[in-house]
Formats: sequence, structure tokens, C-alpha cells
Amino acid sequence: MNSEPPRIELARLPTPIDHLQDLSRELGVEIYVKRDDLTGAALSGNKVRKLEYVLARALEEDADTVITCGGAQSNHCRATAIAARRVGLDIELFLRGGHESAVEANLFLDLLVGAHIHAMTEAEYEDVGPAMAERAEILGSQGRQAYVVPEGASDPIGSFGYVRCMKEIIDQQRAGDVTFDQLIVPVGSGGTVAGLLAGARHLGFTGKIIGVPVCDDAAWFRPVIETLLEGLAHYLVGLDATVPDDLLLDGFVGNGYGQATFDELERIRDLAVLTGLILDPVYTNKAFGALLALVRDGTIAQGGRVLFIHTGGLFGLFPFGDRMPHLMVP
Ligand SMILES: Cc1ncc(COP(=O)(O)O)c(C=O)c1O
Repeated sequence: MNSEPPRIELARLPTPIDHLQDLSRELGVEIYVKRDDLTGAALSGNKVRKLEYVLARALEEDADTVITCGGAQSNHCRATAIAARRVGLDIELFLRGGHESAVEANLFLDLLVGAHIHAMTEAEYEDVGPAMAERAEILGSQGRQAYVVPEGASDPIGSFGYVRCMKEIIDQQRAGDVTFDQLIVPVGSGGTVAGLLAGARHLGFTGKIIGVPVCDDAAWFRPVIETLLEGLAHYLVGLDATVPDDLLLDGFVGNGYGQATFDELERIRDLAVLTGLILDPVYTNKAFGALLALVRDGTIAQGGRVLFIHTGGLFGLFPFGDRMPHLMVP
């Protein structure tokens, strides 16, 4: 790397890569899973890698409070709240639908670590950027210092967490004597896939990266990712910031962001029974649906090796408990 932004250690790294033997045998494709759901316990998932850089910057700027935003069941907000406490910072969260949500799962953990919640309606959330800036100003006028983290921590600094992850993957390929043909990752705000792509270009990863939007679509994400790559080029000098035409794969949003169909929930259960791997309904299960579709249509060739990035999100599964098919105590 040409230069790296400051970083603090928050994640348990390197995360392991598991081989799903039974499923691989069944599908005729070698399926590996990068377990970024294991970056920690309550503080877990892909956001922790981003927060290593984002909170380092907050501390560098002498912040005493972190402000960020997301849905009521946002993994990003939960991870940011816990990480902020780990490094001794106050935390304020602007949550879309915060009033309506039951106090469970991610929201429960937010409250457990004493996050100050600003609940917003869907309409109010349209202006969440200015609302966070205004709150930072108010805190400033009280002699405090707030650091505002964008939704999903998807700014170039946060994305750097996944440049670093790509280095880890390349090292693990070498150590395990395996080369991945494809890498599949969910896309929610774009920072994870942008960091992986930047890392791949910078470090020479040869597999094809496929990002699977779980909201919006490829046309919406393309300029977002391009802007992130341009930002990353400040650190990775000469980085090509163009977004390949086939980076993003549409068609797996299902019924919409945060929604899960009966079939999708059934797939989570089937995979859990077959492999012990537990996916979340909002991000990883949708991307895994894409992986299975690519195996079915032959894009992932028989005998090929695919690496699935498990970005976490376990807590997002709990609110679906009563809708989960075939779960009953006999
Ligand atoms: C569990 C999980 N997976 C994937 C993502 C998507 O990552 P990104 O926002 O970097 O695109 C998120 C957050 O949005 C997430 O919480």
C-alpha cells in the first residue's frame, strides 16, 4: 500500500475461511466462506473493519461523541455504538423507524450500551445528513466535539477496512494453496465492495468480484462506488477508479430492503441445517441467493472455487423468528 489512514484494532483478525464441504459436493462447486461474521461477538460483522479506520480518525480529531444513522435494526449503528464505547466515546444514533421498532436485536444492543437515540420517521430520515450536522453543531456549542459517520461507514476511510481485508484474503489463498475464481459480497451502502475492488486492483487479486445489491440497484450504486474509489486513490496512488460493467449483479433485492420472502427464510433454514452456517435475511442471504443462481446458470463453473464474504448481520435474523418456516417445538 502506498499509504494507509490511521487505524485502531477492534476486529478479531484474520477471520477464518471455511470450506462448505457438503454443499460443495451437492453443487459441484467449491464454496468457501470468509467469516467476517466472526470479527467479534456483539461487536461483529463487516462494519468492524471499517470502524477501525473511522474511529481512529474520530480519536485523532479529539471527538468525544460519535453520531451516525441507519434503520432501527441497523447492524452498522449497533457496531458503531459498541465500538464507540470500547474506545470511550459517547454515541448518538439517528434511527429510521426508531419509534415503531420493538426493543430487540440490534436496537436492544444500541440501548444496552447507552446510545442516545433520535428516532426519525421515514420522511424525516430524508434529511438525516443535515439533522446529524445540526446535532454536531449543537454539541459543539456546548463545548463538545462530535464526529459524524455516514450511513454504513461507507466513506473512503471506512472502505479502507476492506482494502485490508483483501490483503488478508490474498495471504490466506497463499497459505491454503487455493485460488478463488469468484468473490461474492452483499452491497448495502457500497463501502465493502469498493474496498475489496480497490484492494484487488492494488494487490493483484485475480478472482472476479461480484457485488449483490440488497437495496436500490446497480445503476444507483455505480456512481457511489466510483466516488469511493476516487477517495481511496488518495491513499492508493494511481488506483483505477472505474467500476467494471459486471461488478454489480441485480435481481436479488426480493421484496425490498429489510424484507424477506417465505422462500428466502426457508433457504436460511435449509443452509443452517445442512452446514451450520447462519445467514442474515437482510444482506448475506440475498447475496447467497445470487451465488446459488450463478451456480445454476453455469456462470460459476462446475469445479470452480468461489469465496462468499459473510458480512455478519446475525442480530437482524432475530426479529424474523415468528415468520421463520417450519420452526416449532414439537
Ligand atoms: C451484515 C451486513 N452485510 C453487508 C452490508 C453491506 O455493506 P456495505 O454497506 O459496505 O455495502 C451491511 C451494511 O450495510 C451489513 O450490515
